[in-house]
Formats: sequence, C-alpha cells, structure tokens
Amino acid sequence: MASMPPSPLIRKRLAILGSTGSVGSQTLAVVEALTRAGHAFSVVALAAGKNLELLAAQAQRFQPKLIAIERAKDLSKLRRLVGTFWSGEIVVGEEGLIAAATHPDADLIVNALVGALGLIPTLEALKAKKIVALANKESLVIGGHLVHGVQSKRSLIPIDSEHSALFQLMHSLHPSEIERIILTASGGPFRTRPLDSFAQITVAEALQHPTWQMGKRITIDSATLVNKAFEVIEAHWLFDLPYEKISVLIHPQSVVHGLVELTDGSILAHLSTTDMKLPIQYALTYPERVPSSVARLDLVKQKLEFAPVGRERYPAFWLVCEAGQRGGTFPAVANAADEVFVQRFLKNEIPFVGIARGIERVLAEHEGVPTPALEEILEADRWARQRASEFPPNSLS
Ligand SMILES: NC(=O)c1ccc[n+]([C@@H]2O[C@H](COP(=O)([O-])OP(=O)(O)OC[C@H]3O[C@@H](n4cnc5c(N)ncnc54)[C@H](OP(=O)(O)O)[C@@H]3O)[C@@H](O)[C@H]2O)c1
Repeated sequence: MASMPPSPLIRKRLAILGSTGSVGSQTLAVVEALTRAGHAFSVVALAAGKNLELLAAQAQRFQPKLIAIERAKDLSKLRRLVGTFWSGEIVVGEEGLIAAATHPDADLIVNALVGALGLIPTLEALKAKKIVALANKESLVIGGHLVHGVQSKRSLIPIDSEHSALFQLMHSLHPSEIERIILTASGGPFRTRPLDSFAQITVAEALQHPTWQMGKRITIDSATLVNKAFEVIEAHWLFDLPYEKISVLIHPQSVVHGLVELTDGSILAHLSTTDMKLPIQYALTYPERVPSSVARLDLVKQKLEFAPVGRERYPAFWLVCEAGQRGGTFPAVANAADEVFVQRFLKNEIPFVGIARGIERVLAEHEGVPTPALEEILEADRWARQRASEFPPNSLS
C-alpha cells in the first residue's frame, strides 16, 4: 500500500464566538491538538457571555487581540481576572460580537453562540468576506434567506455533525446527481417508550440523551426531535436543496451521520464515532483533512438500524418542519416558541407533551411575513417568546 503523504502545514487565524460553551471549548481543544501536531493556528478574538473565569483562562492561554463580552458591568471583573496576563481590547454586547466576527486579522470565524443572537455576527462576518465555521444553527433556522443572500460558494462550513457529514459527502457531487439527502436522528430517550405514558415524562428522563452529551435545551430538543427539524431547515439553506429532497431517519446508534441517495440508486454514507471534535476539526482544517486522535469506529461491533420518524411520537418535529417549509418568519417563531416551552418544561411548569402543543398553538396564531427583513425576524422572535410565555400550563396538558 502507498504511504500517506504528510499532511500540509495549515495556517489559520480564528475568531471564536461562544468560546466558553460546549462547541466553543471543544474548538479550543482542537486548536491545541492541531498546534501540537505542528499546524499554525492562532486565536485573534474570543467572544462569550457570562462565564468570565473560563474566558479569562482562555485569554491567558490563547492571547487573543480582542475579547467580546455580553455585559458592560463585567468589564472590571474580567480585567481583574486576566490581571497582567492579558492586555488586549474588550468590547461589549452586540458591538463586541460584530467586532469579533469581522476582526481584520481573522480569516475563519467559528460561530458557536447559542440562540438567535448568532444571526447578526454570521451576517456581518459573511459581509466582511470571512469564512464562517457554523455551529449556531439558529443563524440558518431563523435567517436562512438573509444568510443565503450574502454567502458565497464555500463561505459557510458546517460544524453540526450531520451537516459536516453531508458537506463531506456532497463535496465532489454535481447537484443533478443527488436524489435526496438523509439526516439521521438518534430518536432520543423516548424512541421506544409506550405512547400512553408520554404524559408522565419527567425532566430527568428527558435529559438522558442516549448518545451525545450536550446542553439542556439541545438535549430536550433531541428528545422531541425539534433539533432535527432545525437541522432540516439548516440543510435546506446550507445545501440549497428543496425540502422534498431532505429526509430524516431514526438511527439509534448515531454511527451514520448523513447519507446521500444518488439518482442511480446508490447511497453514500458518512460514519464515525460520536465525537464533536471530528466535525470541528474538519471545519478548522477544511479543505485539508489531517489526522486526529478521535476514537476509531470498530465496524465489526456495529449494528445499524434505521426507522421512519412517526408523527404521533414526534409531533413537534413535523410542526417545525412544516414551519420551515412555510418559510418567512415561521421558522423564527417555531424556534422562539420552542425555546420558551423547553424552559417552561425544565421548570416543571408544563408537561413534556406541552412543548409540541404549545408550538402548535403559537404557530397557528402567527401571521407570517414571507421574506422578512432582519428587524421583522427579530420582531417575530420577540412576539413568539411573549406569546409562548402566556399560555397557562393547564391549556397545554
Ligand atoms: N453542543 C453540541 O454538541 C452541538 C452540536 C451541534 C450543534 N450545536 C449548536 O451549536 C450552538 C452552540 O451550542 P453549545 O452547546 O456549544 O451551546 P452552549 O454550551 O450553551 O454555549 C453557548 C455559548 O454562547 C455564549 N453566549 C450566550 N449568550 C451570549 C451573549 N449574549 N453574548 C455573548 N456570548 C453569549 C455562551 O457564553 P457563557 O457560557 O460565557 O455565558 C457560550 O460561550 C447551538 O446553536 C447548538 O444548537 C451544538
């Protein structure tokens, strides 16, 4: 067998938005691993919210030129925490996120922010001709058409594992070869639970994700499969494919992350162990692929199962997919309503089944705007949050 050519030295300057979060801190771990492997990665900007201790430690370790934080009142505390170890610029709020996303010295912007606030930095980074490695799915879920309007070919690299898988599979394909793409979903903890016991689901049960370790909202969104519906919307914009060409299959083992069915009936699949460091590394090194320390998949031990997504078991998935197809402000409303109902479920205010019921009620009341401007999207988001917080718990049981 021919020996592998040595991987080329990669030089990149990063801005990492949401550096203290799950994806953000794993990104910095990947940067460290790539640096140890001899690649030249530098971090020119970091942006985070309230976790000042971790942010200060990251500043000390990576010496960015700029740090963005959420609140002005934290400025002096952050200065105290970094002491004499770091002395760069600190910018606050949305202005800070934009400054990090458009930093003149950064060539790759990792957007690992959570929620709707990720949209504006994505838009600004793309307008500034940066490459964006995107974990913040809300950018495409709520503002897909706006992002589509400013992106250029290969200016968005997905970090979400399913989209990374599909991005890699479709890389060398012509659109005319693609019959459909298939995203996989683990099915969450209630894949086999009797439907007549869904009313008794507890918060602790819903937070038990079978394969991935993630934050609370995304874990609940994985149990309702709303997260997968967001990924369908994300895929629609990312790959410029009509919804008819995007399918989802339950695949409990989470080993196959994406499939592409070709017009001749062949199916290409992407398989790997479940470790976010792999899609993160690919987004950082793209278009190169370099070795990683991620655990190897033992194919002999795998049993691969696939099943359709049932409407009765996963009503919220279908509601959010339909909101995606309706387009305009509907996906933003679905996202905002889901966020509020998930929080209300986590506080034991509404039952698990109330999440889907609530989303359905808020979507039914919404008068959509077909091709909304940014302010109309943000207004729809505000309206949906308000409305979702108003439904009395007994109306959602
Ligand atoms: N986690 C996963 O495995 C995974 C996989 C695929 C896709 N995603 C997507 O990736 C995105 C990030 O997910 P995550 O799990 O990494 O979220 P997370 O752990 O909650 O991290 C969110 C980050 O955003 C920061 N942030 C929040 N509000 C902010 C504000 N107002 N200003 C500045 N920074 C703010 C947080 O800062 P503080 O913590 O300092 O407040 C934190 O650094 C989401 O869209 C998610 O759906 C996640």
